[in-house]
Amino acid sequence: MTDAVQLKEELTAKIEAANDLKSLEEVRVTALGKKGAITDLMKMLGKLDGEERKVRGQELNQLKDEIADFIKAREEKLKKEEMNLRLATETLDVTLPPLPRKLGHVHPISQTMEELQKIFAEMGFSVAEGPDIEDDWHNFTALNFPPGHPAREMQDTFFLPSDPQEKNPDFATKVLRTHTSSVQIREMERHGAPIKIICMGRVYRSDYDMTHTPMFHQVEGLYVDKNVHMGHLKGCLIEFLSAYFEIEDLPIRLRPSFFPFVEPGAEVDIGCSRDGGELKIARAENELEQQWLEVLGCGMVHPNVLKNCGIDPTEYQGFAFGTGIDRLAMLKYGIPDLRSMFESDTRWLQHYGFNLYETVK
Ligand code: PHE
Repeated sequence: MTDAVQLKEELTAKIEAANDLKSLEEVRVTALGKKGAITDLMKMLGKLDGEERKVRGQELNQLKDEIADFIKAREEKLKKEEMNLRLATETLDVTLPPLPRKLGHVHPISQTMEELQKIFAEMGFSVAEGPDIEDDWHNFTALNFPPGHPAREMQDTFFLPSDPQEKNPDFATKVLRTHTSSVQIREMERHGAPIKIICMGRVYRSDYDMTHTPMFHQVEGLYVDKNVHMGHLKGCLIEFLSAYFEIEDLPIRLRPSFFPFVEPGAEVDIGCSRDGGELKIARAENELEQQWLEVLGCGMVHPNVLKNCGIDPTEYQGFAFGTGIDRLAMLKYGIPDLRSMFESDTRWLQHYGFNLYETVK
């Protein structure tokens, strides 16, 4: 009996002394926990005789309930006090500006594609698409470089397992398209002439350094009609390049070059300066000091290519050009390393990316 009375006094004092929820919990454990004082006493009941055990048992149960109630009451009081304290000390300043919500950014490649699409749409080109996995016919043979043609070496191709069902090697051999010129073929096969399209998309070559990645993007233009000539090609390129670089009198020059699918073929340079090591797209003040930067390949569509697509080359002529979208983006937006474009680093994207809704001017 005395044990219980004494214990009750002790525990009551401790509960009252507990000034926060944490110390109250400690008291609860010392009283009612598995190894707590009341629990200990209860365990000893088993050693007592019938009647005594009954009396002691009731007594301890009552003590247990009282202490539990007391702890509960104290807990509620402490909680209320804590809440009152927080209400008194924590203030909410509703005049503070909210934290800015982080918006995503448009990737420079997407931005550049939008710009290109807009420029070419104004010149009457529509947009065509084709598959990334191509067959040998559309990527090479129809473009006038059949198997064994040395020009195939110019493009470090990723070959895929060929289609075992297909007997014709032109269609059985599968590659990741090395250029978007394959889309020219598909579109001419499907729609014939006249045709005026651009095609943008991913292309693949086995190459990796600061200015090459195994996957990159190209835009290709194709215009086939009666009486199309080099003058149209040059005019279109001047319009495109000066609109894209936003330089009105951007000088361009065509240098003869070779691509099997065009004749004549040319590479196109734009005027630049490299003063102090910094590359700037611009017309030089003194024409004789103009420096040049190669940006694209172009030419008049080879008669064999037209023929391969069922178009009569004595009736129709066309021009085609192709260039790297990534390269155009790097030049316009001062991005030094092509590889960084595809590393999915959001800090990079925040720096070089574009705000939504501000993409196309
Ligand atoms: N397809 C060529 C390349 O990837 C570019 C090109 C396109 C050249 C059209 C001429 C005409 O290198």
